[in-house]
Amino acid sequence: DIVYLNGQFLPSDQAKVSVFDRGFLFGDSVYEVIPFYQGVGFRLDEHLQRLEYSLRALRISVDIDIRGVLSTLVASNGGGNMSVYLQITRGAAEKRSHVITEGLTPTVFACCQPIRDIYTDGSEAVSGIKVIVTADLRWRRCDIKSNGLLPNILVLQQAKEHHAQEALLQRDGHLTEGASCNFFIVERGVLYTPPLDTGILSGTTRALILEIADLQGIPRQECPIDYTRLINADEVWISSSTRAIVPVLQVDDQVIGNGKKGPLWKRFFEIFTRYQHD
Ligand code: PDD
Repeated sequence: DIVYLNGQFLPSDQAKVSVFDRGFLFGDSVYEVIPFYQGVGFRLDEHLQRLEYSLRALRISVDIDIRGVLSTLVASNGGGNMSVYLQITRGAAEKRSHVITEGLTPTVFACCQPIRDIYTDGSEAVSGIKVIVTADLRWRRCDIKSNGLLPNILVLQQAKEHHAQEALLQRDGHLTEGASCNFFIVERGVLYTPPLDTGILSGTTRALILEIADLQGIPRQECPIDYTRLINADEVWISSSTRAIVPVLQVDDQVIGNGKKGPLWKRFFEIFTRYQHD
């Protein structure tokens, strides 16, 4: 497969990054994961805006045509439905030092891999998942989509050991988000999700779900959600670019609702997947 690294498109085994790259040494970097359907970036503007936000927070500036890079990358890998990974690190200094050396050239890396087209598969093909709830041990700037995902991968491993597919994170008595997704609950026809000022990532999928709710006249509210509300909800969903909207049928040992994919999920899934193809 072909990857992009610092101005070049080349086979992945020929792409090399310095051992002094600050992304490698310190996790001094940010990333995005962007789905492409039929070769076109889905919610690309929103992803690029969030990338800008993350880069600004780290005071990294890059001057490249990211749109052009990503579309060439996807085309070079055969186009179609792809999940694109883009990472920008502060770059490589001459030696390891916590203190940032001024004037480094950022390392820009992108690769992609095929994703399943959930639209053609339809809602019947989507399997509901089990999640665990565990402590949110991450830092307080989860609004930045930064690398350094050790807490996330450790809780996902914990989820796997419990035969679950995601971990929802809890801090100060409330659930924040998943290790790699946002989440929603449905109570008596109303959709709820935690607000952005609770130390979570501003998910592009989350934003689109709220947009759909507004367009469909489905009441929705952003408010803190605790464990009791979560396990007693009629429906629970997770959302992310790679998974769209997935129904959660079990939280720890508790079955959610009647243990089946909910009607509001199905309705949102159908509208959402239509967006991916318009
Ligand atoms: N993760 N919250 C966290 C912590 C995430 O890592 C992600 C996405 C989201 C959802 O954001 P979006 O809807 O824009 O994908 C929320 C990506 C997919 C990943 O790390 O692979």
